[in-house]
Amino acid sequence: MMGRCASPRCALAAALIAAVVAATSSSLAEATATPPLPVLPVPTAAQLRWQRREVIMFFHFGMNTFTDSEWGTGREPPAAFRPAALDASQWMDAAAAAGASLVVLVAKHHDGFCLWPSAHTAHSVRASPWRGGRGDVVREFTDAARARGLDVGIYLSPWDRHDKRYGREVAYNEYYLAQLHELLTGYGSVSEIWFDGAKGKNATNMTYHFQEWFQTVRQLQSSINIFSDDGPDLRWVGDENGSAGSTCWSTINRSKITIGEAGIEKYLNTGDPRGKDWVPPECDVSIRPGWFWHKNETAKPLPELLEVYYNSVGRNCVLLLNAPPNTTGLVDAADIARLREFRAAVTAIFGTDLAAGSAARASSERGGRFAAANVLDGRDDTYWAPAAAEAEDGGGYWIELRRPASAAARKFNVVRIQENVAMGQRVERHEVYVDGGGAAVASGTTVGHKRLHRLGAPVAGRTVRVWLASRRGPPLLSAVGLHLDPFAAGGGTM
Ligand SMILES: *[C@@H]1O[C@H](CO)[C@@H](O)[C@H](O)[C@H]1NC(C)=O
Ligand SMILES: *[C@@H]1O[C@H](CO)[C@@H](O)[C@H](O)[C@H]1NC(C)=O
Ligand SMILES: *[C@@H]1O[C@H](CO)[C@@H](O)[C@H](O)[C@H]1NC(C)=O
Ligand SMILES: *[C@@H]1O[C@H](CO)[C@@H](O)[C@H](O)[C@H]1NC(C)=O
Ligand SMILES: *[C@@H]1O[C@H](CO)[C@@H](O)[C@H](O)[C@H]1NC(C)=O
Ligand SMILES: *[C@@H]1O[C@H](CO)[C@@H](O)[C@H](O)[C@H]1NC(C)=O
Repeated sequence: MMGRCASPRCALAAALIAAVVAATSSSLAEATATPPLPVLPVPTAAQLRWQRREVIMFFHFGMNTFTDSEWGTGREPPAAFRPAALDASQWMDAAAAAGASLVVLVAKHHDGFCLWPSAHTAHSVRASPWRGGRGDVVREFTDAARARGLDVGIYLSPWDRHDKRYGREVAYNEYYLAQLHELLTGYGSVSEIWFDGAKGKNATNMTYHFQEWFQTVRQLQSSINIFSDDGPDLRWVGDENGSAGSTCWSTINRSKITIGEAGIEKYLNTGDPRGKDWVPPECDVSIRPGWFWHKNETAKPLPELLEVYYNSVGRNCVLLLNAPPNTTGLVDAADIARLREFRAAVTAIFGTDLAAGSAARASSERGGRFAAANVLDGRDDTYWAPAAAEAEDGGGYWIELRRPASAAARKFNVVRIQENVAMGQRVERHEVYVDGGGAAVASGTTVGHKRLHRLGAPVAGRTVRVWLASRRGPPLLSAVGLHLDPFAAGGGTM
């Protein structure tokens, strides 16, 4: 055929055909680099979306705000609930200041007072003087959140010290379920629901029908994340000071946990490397000493909030930060200022990646879309994958960033490592070396969605190598970043 091609037009056609054939075969080569197999268990789409939020907000507000307490008795008169100028959109200023994309409201705390006009009890805002008894905090909260593009979550306390049905197993479980129905069908899409086993030592004995509640929640809101000590979607981290274990797996065995039982904290804090269930931890902590607003308390100083950030987001968790509105029905301006300061600090540290512009190489590359350079593209959904060959198990997996010469003088004191957790959490032990030095500048166990290492002092090296010393399957890293924390000891000397 080609031999008989004499005219220029025919030659052009032949060249075009050749180009198409070449393009097809190179895209075929690309297509052969399939993603590696996941290592089970892996997160659901909703869990993955939640994980990438990193910081979310909690709002504790209710009868306790007006009685200056943390745990009410259930005997408070509804007339005590009288915020003078409640403005939920001002609460969203607090969420925006913190950079949160999801806001969780306490709709009912242990005292049983409902912030929405529930049809199933008289103990609610309907019986209060606020908005002449026609108010609905849940409605104002969810409307204000949506107006700002924020997703919403709800906490409904199982322990109820007011309701007379509490202690009568069927009657109370039906009451609780009826309230879940109201909250999950009347206020649009709800992204997270919070359950806990908190209960006083002398509380009436009462069995909660968690399985019936969970399955009903799923039926009413199919993409919601259910939080409790043992998930099913998100777990408690085991403390209320925002501190995950330095080893922190997203996996546990749910069968090991009874909600509200003492003694499970350590297991929740570190997770289980052999856990069969993907139930990542959420760190709930208040910016003030208490969960509710008290006149005598103020927000934690910035260094403490940054410590919380490193110990939660920096250890594979989502941080659920509580900002309690006051008796006026507003978040204190000083608290909002502190949240803004916190977000500005996080941006100052992580807004600049000192690894940008580096050349990336690795022990091997799988080819196609899985290049080592993916750890520098600022995306969570692209990642470096090593070659399929198992040969490396002897030499070990590593990835190295070589910073441009101009960057050599720019010191860093934070190393950020991220796994593509969509494919399962894999890294069991890792070490970080600078300029081929013999001693690791940082080392640790798990990585997960995000692991942040603070170095003792800023370093200025050009090559940074992360060695994945031990892992469940080949490591898949979505990011390696270098940052300067000017708030850390010695960090401001640059
Ligand atoms: C629980 O009950 C005991 C015995 O009645 C009492 O001494 C104790 O103060 C109670 N504790 C609380 C927290 O109410
Ligand atoms: C509470 O009730 C459950 C079942 O109704 C029972 O098994 C348990 O022993 C009771 N606990 C106490 C402390 O009475
Ligand atoms: C956090 O709380 C746990 C127990 O609740 C405690 O053991 C730990 O020391 C606390 N950590 C910090 C940093 O306060
Ligand atoms: C969790 O389950 C796995 C698989 O059954 C098991 O190998 C592991 O030992 C369990 N973890 C604990 C702490 O029992
Ligand atoms: C502030 O007052 C509340 C209520 O009276 C009390 O529970 C709390 O311990 C106090 N906080 C501080 C830091 O003293
Ligand atoms: C609540 O906070 C708002 C905003 O800072 C403030 O104007 C108001 O006075 C505060 N109310 C109380 C009781 O402190």
